Amino acid sequence: MNILIIGASRGIGFEFARQYREAGDRVVATARTDEGIARLQAIGCKSFALDVADAASVSGLAWRIDGEAFDVAIVNAGVIGPRTTALETPSLADFDAVMRTNVLGPMQVIPQLADALAPGAKLAVLSSRMGSMGLRTSASSWLYRASKAAVNSVLKDVSLVLGERAVCVAFHPGWVRTDMGGANADLPVEQSVGDMRATLARLSPADTGRFLNHDGQPLDW
Ligand SMILES: NC(=O)c1ccc[n+]([C@@H]2O[C@H](COP(=O)([O-])OP(=O)(O)OC[C@H]3O[C@@H](n4cnc5c(N)ncnc54)[C@H](OP(=O)(O)O)[C@@H]3O)[C@@H](O)[C@H]2O)c1
Repeated sequence: MNILIIGASRGIGFEFARQYREAGDRVVATARTDEGIARLQAIGCKSFALDVADAASVSGLAWRIDGEAFDVAIVNAGVIGPRTTALETPSLADFDAVMRTNVLGPMQVIPQLADALAPGAKLAVLSSRMGSMGLRTSASSWLYRASKAAVNSVLKDVSLVLGERAVCVAFHPGWVRTDMGGANADLPVEQSVGDMRATLARLSPADTGRFLNHDGQPLDW
């Protein structure tokens, strides 16, 4: 298969790249830094620089992948922002950083990669259960929650526009042991990504526009 991963220097994105390479797939994976690019090249990925929050950086994406036909595209880049417990108003800088990365990022990246999707491709955005309105029982990190609720809306619109061409889903990866998830998280990154790869492989056109747990269970928006 031919795989594209946006934001793959570490954590869940890097693990997707590692597992797909181990399975013998061709992987194009982006990072923001030279170290990230080198790390991806060392496992056999084609890699180039991309900052999803920077319009100038994203504007080059379509020509970088011109002529490709990706079977799977994963928009993974994300930041958590301030880890608040109640209703602490975010600074404008924090608001901009989180919303630009988690919401504007996919809104900039997905239009640039749409023409490089193979017919019947799978397109996944890494969202979070923390963005779910229906399942919410806590207001912690409310800026991050708002950003993931917003990107769920973005994914729904993507599915309405690209649904004929690609199966488009939002994923909750679980609470995963990465820099973001921390050492006390439930799931090793290998398991979360292994589950999401298996779910992606099973998706059918009827699944487009869904919000899915890493193991494929549908989640409430
Ligand atoms: N871990 C969890 O428990 C959990 C739970 C729910 C959802 N998620 C979601 O899953 C995704 C991956 O999370 P993770 O746990 O792997 O986080 P992580 O360990 O903090 O890694 C985040 C990744 O996103 C990249 N990134 C951040 N801002 C970027 C930008 N502006 N442009 C390009 N890349 C950027 C980082 O690149 P740099 O190395 O350059 O910073 C890094 O590769 C995120 O969308 C996150 O919200 C994670």
